[in-house]
Amino acid sequence: MIPNTLPEPVVFTPEASDPTLRWGIVGPGWIAGEFADAVRAHTAQRIVAVASRSIDRATAFAAEHGIETALGSVDELLARPDVDVVYIATPQSDHAATALAAIAAGKHVLVEKPFTVTAAEARTVADAARAAGVFAMEAMWSRYLPQASVLRTLLADGTLGEVRSVLADHGQAIPFGPDHRLFRPELGGGALLDLGIYTVQFASMVLGEPHRVTARGRMTESGVDASGTLVLEHGDAQAVLHTTIAARTPTTASIAGTEGTIAFAGPFYNPTSFTLSAPEHGSPVLHWDDPTPLRGFAALAWEATALARFVGEGRTESPLHTLDETVAILGTIDTARAQIAAG
Ligand SMILES: NC(=O)c1ccc[n+]([C@@H]2O[C@H](COP(=O)([O-])OP(=O)(O)OC[C@H]3O[C@@H](n4cnc5c(N)ncnc54)[C@H](OP(=O)(O)O)[C@@H]3O)[C@@H](O)[C@H]2O)c1
Repeated sequence: MIPNTLPEPVVFTPEASDPTLRWGIVGPGWIAGEFADAVRAHTAQRIVAVASRSIDRATAFAAEHGIETALGSVDELLARPDVDVVYIATPQSDHAATALAAIAAGKHVLVEKPFTVTAAEARTVADAARAAGVFAMEAMWSRYLPQASVLRTLLADGTLGEVRSVLADHGQAIPFGPDHRLFRPELGGGALLDLGIYTVQFASMVLGEPHRVTARGRMTESGVDASGTLVLEHGDAQAVLHTTIAARTPTTASIAGTEGTIAFAGPFYNPTSFTLSAPEHGSPVLHWDDPTPLRGFAALAWEATALARFVGEGRTESPLHTLDETVAILGTIDTARAQIAAG
């Protein structure tokens, strides 16, 4: 049944009851810069240190983003008692090792997507975090956007009826470069781990873990998946997902059920808008726009405040994206990557 109005979003606006955690950054590259700026401008969190493999790069990043301490190694950062949580923004091939080291040092971790390259690695990190009693979460920022909370409410309320189909795509045109991390197998390159993961996590949020995964695609000459189309089967429902690093796609997503359809404008994994409509053509359409001012990567702030709130609540993982779900999503990607590589 299509409601007259849409639910209010849950917004991770900083609250006085949230702890102000002291953050350390590892991997001061492109997304770490966006994250640092978003955290500084839109949260009550404090980034106190940054570690690079080069002290010069750490110093430059610290100066640019207003961070007190620059360090020339991850070990120095992990040895600091004034760091509560480590944000890991290195290439995916490094995520598991750095996360395990941070967990062993007693730090909470926010690990950029993909959490790790494989489900087996993700399970190892999840087990280590649980054993250490520290908080661990994939930086799947889409899960913490206001629109995701509205979608969760609509799904929980049964507004769409029985969900039968999820469609999502994420493609960017990345010029081939043998040194670019996306084209290097040893750095965990490829479309699925970098871009396709947004579509897989979207389908997982709606339908859970698929019972069958079928994938076809194309490899680059350097040996990573350039593009892939996945069919995920879930009983009476299917998800059809597409990803590519060879073309810019609309990056839209939709969910269709027996009672209604939600269609997200691209890029669906960023702050965006959506429509909710009934199955009949010509029936009224409800339109939702993100009411907050945060757009683009400024919205990385929501995941940082969410993490602090969860830690303050005594949690060790995100209730909106559990570690078991994180492992399962990488299991789907493992299967799809293997099928695409096999041709
Ligand atoms: N949430 C999002 O929207 C989003 C967007 C883009 C990327 N990401 C994710 O964020 C991560 C980083 O992506 P990026 O585009 O920011 O990459 P990037 O610009 O290449 O930065 C990665 C940083 O990690 C360090 N690094 C490079 N190679 C390394 C290696 N082999 N081992 C350890 N450290 C290494 C480098 O810093 P030093 O050499 O100074 O140590 C580099 O600046 C990836 O996992 C990616 O999937 C997320």
